[in-house]
Amino acid sequence: MEKIIIKVKTKSKSYPIIVGKSIINEIPNILKSNNLSFEKCLIIVDSKIPKNKLKIVKKKIISKKKFIYYFNATEKNKNLKNINFILNILFKFNFSRSDCIVSFGGGIAGDVSGFAASIFKRGLKFINIPTTLLSQVDSSIGGKTGVNNNYGKNLIGSFMQPDLVISDINMLSSLPKREIICGYGEILKHSIISNKKNFKYLKTNYLKILKLKSPFIEKSIADSCKIKRNIVQLDEKEKNIRKVLNLGHTFAHAYEASLNYSKKLNHGEAVILGIISVIKF
Ligand code: GLY
Repeated sequence: MEKIIIKVKTKSKSYPIIVGKSIINEIPNILKSNNLSFEKCLIIVDSKIPKNKLKIVKKKIISKKKFIYYFNATEKNKNLKNINFILNILFKFNFSRSDCIVSFGGGIAGDVSGFAASIFKRGLKFINIPTTLLSQVDSSIGGKTGVNNNYGKNLIGSFMQPDLVISDINMLSSLPKREIICGYGEILKHSIISNKKNFKYLKTNYLKILKLKSPFIEKSIADSCKIKRNIVQLDEKEKNIRKVLNLGHTFAHAYEASLNYSKKLNHGEAVILGIISVIKF
């Protein structure tokens, strides 16, 4: 299947989300065709990402100087201390606003990288390469970035749209089944808040999607991105309609908090339970 390009146009920035198989190999062309260039880049990579995949991304990013920060992407490490650590790397190597941060990992890596990118010298370039289904259909789109503190999750942050999102389906094949189900929870949520056609597509094809079969997985990711894109374009800063994207999340956060955000229940699973709770109430 050809790669799918979804254009996002918000008041603050326009950028493409590119969905397809093995597209990390096409990074040089993708950068060129989107006029994205920079002298230095810091790749913030989730330390769980297979080394061979990082090797490809490192090789394909066009930049005179490349730096890598291996980030242990956990909710506990999604904090201001690590943001400061990243900022210090950028200062130490004299990054400027025309340089770039590349996030290579799931939602936590993306949120942390995006937040650092938004506050360093009031913003530098930001490319997101989400590697989980959940981050490909949700957190990589729409510019929410941030970290946690003692008072709760994502309470410190900013809205900063990325310059480019590259969602490579191949990244999903090494994920545990549980991770795929988590991402599917958000795909399902997007279908519920859109229209019957999207919901029916999932009802018919969910097994193929969960098995990451082409072209079903690409289509469901792209459809999900389009639904979120349409909402974000109307309300970038979540003043009104964007709140529908939080369907099931009040219950979800309560379930997660009641288990101390432990691995017993991860976010996607909590969202699925949250949606069921909303429907039942
Ligand atoms: N995950 C909900 C949003 O981005 O608004």
